[in-house]
Amino acid sequence: MSAIIEIKNVTKEFKVLNRREGLKGSLRDLFSRDYKTVRAVDNISMTIEQGEIVGYLGPNGAGKSTTIKMMTGVLEPTSGEILIGGGVPYQNRTKNAQEIGVVFSRTSIRSPMRTMRG
Ligand SMILES: Nc1ncnc2c1ncn2[C@@H]1O[C@H](COP(=O)(O)OP(=O)(O)OP(=O)(O)O)[C@@H](O)[C@H]1O
Ligand SMILES: [Mg+2]
Repeated sequence: MSAIIEIKNVTKEFKVLNRREGLKGSLRDLFSRDYKTVRAVDNISMTIEQGEIVGYLGPNGAGKSTTIKMMTGVLEPTSGEILIGGGVPYQNRTKNAQEIGVVFSRTSIRSPMRTMRG
C-alpha cells in the first residue's frame, strides 16, 4: 500500500487585526494597526494509505476546516509539508480539484447549526 495523503508537521497561522472599539478606535486602527497571530493548526502530522476510510474530528475551532483547506490547495501552510497523491495541493489546484470532492459552507458563531458547518 502507498500513502495517498502525507501530512508532516503542518502549522497554519493567520494574522488578524485587533480591532479597537468605537469611532475613535476605528480611526486609530486606520493609522496604527495592531495585529495578533492566530494559530489555527498547530503542528499536525498524519499518513493515510490508499483505500483507508477516515474521519477527522475535533471541537469547534480545532482547525478541521483549515486543514481541509490546506489539503485542497485553498490555503498554503505556514510551515510543514502536505502531499496529496504525490503533489503539493496549492501548487496543483486544477489537477487536485479534478480528483477530490469538498463541500464548504460558512461558519457563523451565531448559527445553531455551527457544529455541522464550516
Ligand atoms: N481566515 C481566518 N482568519 C483568522 N482566523 C481564522 C481564519 N480561519 C480560521 N480561523 C481561526 O482558526 C481556528 C480554527 O478554525 P477552523 O475553522 O479551521 O476550525 P474547525 O475545526 O473547522 O471548527 P468548526 O468545528 O467550528 O467548523 C479558529 O480559532 C478560527 O477562528
Ligand atoms: Mg469547520
